This record gives sequence, structure tokens and C-alpha cells, in this order.
Amino acid sequence: MPMHRVASLADLRRDRGIQVEVGKKKLVLVWHGEEVRAYQAECPHAGAPLAEGAVCNGHLICPWHKAEFAVSDGHLCEPPALDALTRYPTQVIEDQVHVDDQPVEPRPEALADDDRCFIIIGAGAAGTAGACALREQGFNGRVLLIDREHSPGYDRTALSKFVLAADMPPDETPALREDAFYVDQRIERIQGEVMKLDALNKRVTLSDGRRLDYDSALITTGGDPRTLPLIGADLAHVLTLRCRDDAEKILHAAQLGRHALVVGDSFIGLEAASALRKHGVNVTVLARHEIPFAGQLGERIGKALRSLHEQNGVLFRTHVDVSRFESDDHGQLTTAVLSNGERLPVDLALIGIGVTPATQFVDGIQRDQDGSLSVDSGMRAGKDLWAAGDIVTFPLAGQSKRIEHWRLAQQQARIAARNMLGGQDNYSDVPYFWTQQVEKRLDYLGHADAWDDIVYLGDPEAFDFLALICNQGAVKAVVGCEREREVAMLAERMKQPLFKDEAVMLIRQISA
Ligand SMILES: Cc1cc2nc3c(=O)[nH]c(=O)nc-3n(C[C@H](O)[C@H](O)[C@H](O)COP(=O)(O)OP(=O)(O)OC[C@H]3O[C@@H](n4cnc5c(N)ncnc54)[C@H](O)[C@@H]3O)c2cc1C
Ligand code: FES
Repeated sequence: MPMHRVASLADLRRDRGIQVEVGKKKLVLVWHGEEVRAYQAECPHAGAPLAEGAVCNGHLICPWHKAEFAVSDGHLCEPPALDALTRYPTQVIEDQVHVDDQPVEPRPEALADDDRCFIIIGAGAAGTAGACALREQGFNGRVLLIDREHSPGYDRTALSKFVLAADMPPDETPALREDAFYVDQRIERIQGEVMKLDALNKRVTLSDGRRLDYDSALITTGGDPRTLPLIGADLAHVLTLRCRDDAEKILHAAQLGRHALVVGDSFIGLEAASALRKHGVNVTVLARHEIPFAGQLGERIGKALRSLHEQNGVLFRTHVDVSRFESDDHGQLTTAVLSNGERLPVDLALIGIGVTPATQFVDGIQRDQDGSLSVDSGMRAGKDLWAAGDIVTFPLAGQSKRIEHWRLAQQQARIAARNMLGGQDNYSDVPYFWTQQVEKRLDYLGHADAWDDIVYLGDPEAFDFLALICNQGAVKAVVGCEREREVAMLAERMKQPLFKDEAVMLIRQISA
């Protein structure tokens, strides 16, 4: 075994990994009890340096999007990564850590025959994670993964950040899995629109008439962007953004000197506004709120974000709606007429007013008023039926919530997959999302509808801060910018109740 001395024990810390090199290989070393473990240094999701994350409660947490891995053996605990870490053998000799440059080969397990057929409808964040988790958990039966899009699941979060900014061609939007993965794992991809899921007879019907019977099904069909019931809303350049085709249409219309109207000050709307500015498009945002995101992030951070966008050339119009769109004789969008009678010249309108759960095809179980499916904390929607992602209303801290976050959708699908195989898993984590606004990347952890205090560490106006959003002394949510390690630690630590004094102490410790 070619072992290489890479560090001394004194270099290691309990609250994070350290990065070392063996030849050209980069590895991360972490404590596991009194032993040292070595793993690949880069996160299998998008390549973040794991040594810049944190170790908490036996998990190594990625700094970028908070995937979590067990320090014991590198297995995947929380997405958005979909793979375990590759592990390398280690040995400690006289306080010096030695690492083998050849990885530990996982032993393939013998799988029992299984003649069940599981169907997953929707191959986005949740559906793809669910299919992967079924195989990861050793399911040996058929897995059918149905989606109306032609290509395998991809990272739609990149659309408003990198694709619209022309930093990434639409067809290079990262695939969640390479084509070969589906073949290797015997995940049968079916391209088609599901028209009906008959929950009583356990049957799925596609728009081309194909019928598929299932033993268990997982519904992960996400949301359909809401449109505006207005005259002119069907014009070619009145667009929404959910999929790669949408992004291509927006890009096509986004040219230097053109005028874009973004309707809605949502995270996606404002991410798109920053991206369009990169093309030299004049952007006006029609906002419902004077201060964007004040309801989620608090007024101070919301104001800082609004002024960041304004410095980037985005105009905000508040307390006014759009009443109709007008076109020229060729059907080309020319004007947005506002509710105060004002006429804005526009070449492109992007409607960013949220989504409606895509569940119209579900028959035999009750849909909620907003179109979502209610699930229990194990993601059960009915008999042999599970649901996950943007379509579900689920129990979170004693309340029913519908939350549209990428990592959460994947977590829910992984729970559903384990339960489809007889597990008794429940969602008990901390919701997390990230956003990128004019080159500033913000992390948001937790969920706070109301609060009585926000503790700021650092400076929100300089976009270098942590904000602890607290209610009655308990930390309910955290917003961070340039504080990835701290948020990584909190992503794990906030699974238990956390009070603000302890949070501040833990943050100071890990920042030191
Ligand atoms: C532009 C954009 C940027 C975003 N950025 C972020 C971010 O930075 N951070 C974050 O946390 N979240 C972000 N989100 C939200 C995140 O993408 C969603 O929460 C997540 O994708 C939800 O996963 P899902 O599996 O429920 O739905 P989706 O990922 O939307 O997948 C649903 C799939 O179901 C398919 N489908 C729907 N109906 C049918 C049918 N009848 N038959 C067959 N197939 C069907 C769709 O084609 C789709 O592929 C962003 C969303 C968008 C649109
Ligand atoms: S790079 Fe690690 S979770 Fe995204």
C-alpha cells in the first residue's frame, strides 16, 4: 500500500476538515472519534472544497449548497449531492497522518430479486434524487422515471443565474446524472406527459395513451409558472421561466438596449433581472413590495438588496400592476399598460409571480385548494403513493407548509424512497436555499414567518454578514453572505433547537 505522510494530528480541527494533497489528488482529512478519515476533497455535487465547510454532529457539510456526508464512512446524508464521498485508507504513525493514494473500493451488495415496479413522475430535483435513492437503498425492482422534457433531469437553479446571464449555454445546464448512469442503474427514462394518475387502481396514463401499472408511485411534478389573465399575456415575448426552453426564449429576446419588464420581485424574478442587465437590457421590476424580500429576510437586508439592484441599473416600480400588453401589427410586444394608465415600452416581459403545483392529473386523492398534495412527514400522500418537492404541503414544526427549495425537494424525495422500501423516515431537517443577486450569493436556512429580533453579525450593506432571525430568543432562520462555513455548521446544528446566545458563541468559535 503506497502510504504518504500528509499531516500531523496537530493540524486537524474537530469543527472542519483540512485539505491535503497526495500527488495530484486533493483529499480532505476529518476526525471520526479518535480516528482520522480521508475523503475526496471536492464535493460530488458541484466541486466545492469540502475543507471550507464544517464538521458538526458527525457530518461533513459542504460550504456551497450544504450537502452532508457522514464522517464515519462518507455516505451521503443530505443532498444536493447525489453520491457518497470516495474514501481513502489512513494510518496514524507517531502523530503523523498517512494516507493511501488508492481509494477504498466499496463492496457491491448482493441484491434480492424484486418484481415490483415503482413509478416516479417528474425527473426534476425531487424525481431524480428519488430514483437515485431507490437504487442507493438497494431496490432491485423496476424504476420508471417519467418526464415530459426530452433531456434527463438538470439543474434548473442555474437557469436564472448562469444561463440567462450567458455564462452557460442552455444545453450545458448541468445534468443531474449522466446518460450512462440511468443505463447502469437500470432506471428506465420515459419521455411523456402524464395525463392521469389513478390512485385507486394504481395506474398512470400518458398523453400518447400508454398505460403503466405500479406497485408504488412517487409524484414529483413541481410547479407550473403562474401567468397573468390579461389581454396580450399570450404574446410571444411575454414569458415565464421554469425550464431550459423558457430560458432559451428569454435569451433570444434579451438584446442590448431592449426593454424588459419583470413582473414580480421574487427571488427568481430578481435573479433574472441581474442576468438581463449583463446583456445591456434595460430592466424594470414591477414589485408588489416597497422592499423586496422584507417578509423573508427582514427589511434591512431587503433594502440592501434593492439598492444593490438599483446600482446595477434596475428600476423598481411599486404600488402599480400591469393591466395589459400591446403589440404592433406583426404581433410583436411593444407596450405594457400599467394600472395607473402609464404606458411602458417593452420588448420582453418576464412574469415571475410564483408557481401552481402541477397536479391536475392526479385522480383518487384529494388535492388541496392551492393544488398541492398534502403529505405526512414521511411524504405519504395515499396508499402506495408518495409525493415530494414543490407540489407538497408537508408538516414543518407543527405547521403545514409548501416550500419551493431545491435541496428540500431532494431531501423529501430521498425520505419517500426509503419509505417506499418499508422505512419509517420522517422529515426533521432545516429547510435551506441559496440565491444569487447581482454576483452576491446568499444562503438562507430555516423558515421564519414572524420574528421579534434579528441579530446581525457583520454588515448586510457590505454583503458580508450573518443575520440570526429570532423569535423569543430561539433562532428560527439564518441569512448569510460570505459566511459559508458558519451556515454549513448551522445547517446541521439547527436540527436541534438553538438559542441566539449559543448560536453567537458557536459562530464565533467556528469563525476563529
Ligand atoms: C429558474 C429557477 C431558479 C431557481 N433557483 C433556486 C435556487 O437558487 N435555490 C433553490 O433552493 N431553489 C431554486 N429554485 C427552485 C427549485 O428549482 C425547485 O424548488 C425545485 O426544482 C423543485 O423540485 P421538484 O422536483 O419539485 O420540481 P421540478 O424540479 O420542477 O421537476 C418537476 C418535473 O416534473 C415534470 N413534469 C411536470 N408535470 C408533468 C407531467 N404531467 N408529466 C410528466 N412530467 C411532468 C417537469 O417537466 C419537471 O421536469 C429555482 C427554480 C427556478 C425555476
Ligand atoms: S457543491 Fe457541495 S452541495 Fe453543491
